[in-house]
Amino acid sequence: MPAEAVLRLGSKGAEQTRAIGRRLGRSLRGGDVVLLVGDLGSGKTTFTQGIARGAGFGGRVASPTFVLVRVYRAPVWTLYHIDFYRVAEDQTRDIGIEDYVGDPNGICVVEWPAAGKGYLPNARLEVRFSYGRAENERALSIKAFGPRAEGLMRRLAPAARRGRDPS
Ligand SMILES: Nc1ncnc2c1ncn2[C@@H]1O[C@H](COP(=O)(O)OP(=O)(O)O)[C@@H](O)[C@H]1O
Ligand SMILES: [Mg+2]
Repeated sequence: MPAEAVLRLGSKGAEQTRAIGRRLGRSLRGGDVVLLVGDLGSGKTTFTQGIARGAGFGGRVASPTFVLVRVYRAPVWTLYHIDFYRVAEDQTRDIGIEDYVGDPNGICVVEWPAAGKGYLPNARLEVRFSYGRAENERALSIKAFGPRAEGLMRRLAPAARRGRDPS
């Protein structure tokens, strides 16, 4: 799959968005970076709830908007859920982003990643969320940068076509 390839998935409700996230979460490992782009309420945190579940974290996952980072320790990986909403570019370093991205056992999921771009690696998976026509519809457009992310994206595609989540 070439780097420009985009995988488009539709979601008809929050549970479906969580299910896609869960599928991704099961494939993630330390060092992976996932950027979540989209307007407020488009589903970034909901998707991260699925990622956390898939990565083995069983507890509650809440928005990190006001705390900037929430840390979830799963049995194997540590999930850093970061939110740079309204964070200025020169503040991202104070938040400790280098430590999160540099943790070999850490999975980084970043909402509103623009302010962190100076510290985020090129190799990454990007998921863009947009609103659909109906109230609970969302479109996810997934782009891979680098071979590792391409593999993650490929693993999302066929399961999505089967139309149901095996878990
Ligand atoms: N298909 C869908 N995918 C994700 N969230 C949805 C969907 N349909 C409705 N929702 C609702 O939209 C809201 C998304 O909020 P959230 O995930 O916090 O967005 P963000 O983090 O992008 O601001 C939640 O209240 C969720 O229940
Ligand atoms: Mg959010």
